[in-house]
Amino acid sequence: MTRVTAGSVVFEQVTKRFAGFDAIPNLSLTVEPGTLVTLLGPSGCGKTTTLRLLAGLEHPTSGRILIGGKDVTQLPANERDVAMVFQSYALFPHMSALDNILYGLQASGMNKREAQDRAREGLKLVGLETQGNRLPSELSGGQQQRIAVARALVLEPQVLLLDEPLSNLDERLRRRVRTDIRDLQQRLGFTAVYVTHDQEEALAVSDKIIVMKEGDIAQQGAPESLYHAPNSVFIADFMGEANILPCEVEQLEGSDAWVRLGSQRYRVRGNGVQPGTAQLSVRPQFITLREEGAGALRGEVTHCTWLGDHIEYEVATELGSLFIVDAHMEQQLPLNSAVAIDFKPQGLALIAG
Ligand SMILES: Nc1ncnc2c1ncn2[C@@H]1O[C@H](COP(=O)(O)OP(=O)(O)O)[C@@H](O)[C@H]1O
Ligand SMILES: [Mg+2]
Repeated sequence: MTRVTAGSVVFEQVTKRFAGFDAIPNLSLTVEPGTLVTLLGPSGCGKTTTLRLLAGLEHPTSGRILIGGKDVTQLPANERDVAMVFQSYALFPHMSALDNILYGLQASGMNKREAQDRAREGLKLVGLETQGNRLPSELSGGQQQRIAVARALVLEPQVLLLDEPLSNLDERLRRRVRTDIRDLQQRLGFTAVYVTHDQEEALAVSDKIIVMKEGDIAQQGAPESLYHAPNSVFIADFMGEANILPCEVEQLEGSDAWVRLGSQRYRVRGNGVQPGTAQLSVRPQFITLREEGAGALRGEVTHCTWLGDHIEYEVATELGSLFIVDAHMEQQLPLNSAVAIDFKPQGLALIAG
C-alpha cells in the first residue's frame, strides 16, 4: 500500500540570485502537512525557481529550507524526499505506463517484486489499472498526466511538487484533471506545492494560495480571502477581473466599513482600511444594469458584446468606465442607452487608497 508521510515545508528568508539578478529577494513561507498550497503569479515572478529550490534542483544564495522539520538546504535533490510532476510529464516514450512508474522505484534500489507491486498500486491509485501496457503515445493527455502523478506518488515523497501540471491539456480536460489531482490529494492526504499562473485553477484546487510578484509574496491566504479581501489593486486584478473605483470610507463599524459609492452607502468588510479616500474593487458579475429608474449611479452603454451564456458591457459613468458581466441575460441593453447601475455588496472589496 502506498503510504503517505505528509511533510511540512518551510522557507526561512530564502534568496536566489542568478548572475546579478535577484530572482527571489527574500522569501519566507510555510506549507502545513497534508495541505495543497499553490504558488500563483504572472510569468517570470519566480514560481518555478521556488519549486526548484524546494526540489534541490537549485540552491539558495542564502536562507534555509526545511522539509518535514529537517534542514535540507545543503542536501542534493535525491536526498530530499520530494517528487516532482513536470509540465511536460517527462514520461519515457518507449516505455509502457507501468514501466514508467517502475523506473523510479527500481532506480531507488527497491527489489523488483516489491517495485512491481508498488507500480501496479500506483496505476490503480490514478484509475489506470487496465492501461499499464500502453505506451504514453497510446494514452490521452489526461491519462499521461495521471501516469506522471502516479510515478511521483509511488515514491512516497513527503511533498509532491507540481509545476503547471495542466498546461499541456485542452481546456475541458484541464478541469477534469485538476479535480482528479485535488481529489487524490484530499483522499491520500499528501502535502502538495502546486505552481500555476491561472487564478481559476488556483481557486479550484488550493487550501492556501501564495500570490507571488517579482519573487516576493504579494498576498497569501485561503482562496476566498484573496478573492474577497485583496490587499492591493494587483491582487484584486489578478484574482479575477475587477473595476477599481475611488470611494469614500465614511465610518467603521466593528470589522466592517460604510463606504459611499455614487448615491448609495454600502456596508463592506473593512480590510483594515481607515476612514477617508480609498479604493473599491468591484467584480463585474456583481453589478446590475437597468434601463429605467434610479440606481447608485447613472451611465451610458458604450460597448456591448453578446457571448452566448453572458453579455459583457462597458458603461461610462461619472466614476469612470465600468466593465459589467450579465449572466442572467433577461434583456440586452442597446448601445448608447442610458442605464441605472447598482452594486451587490458581496462583489465589493475595500482596498487602501
Ligand atoms: N537559470 C537562470 N538564470 C538566470 N535567470 C533565471 C534562471 N532561471 C530563472 N531565471 C529568471 O528568474 C525569474 C523567475 O523565473 P521563473 O521562476 O522561471 O518564473 P515563473 O516560473 O514564475 O514564470 C525570471 O526573470 C527568469 O528569467
Ligand atoms: Mg514557471
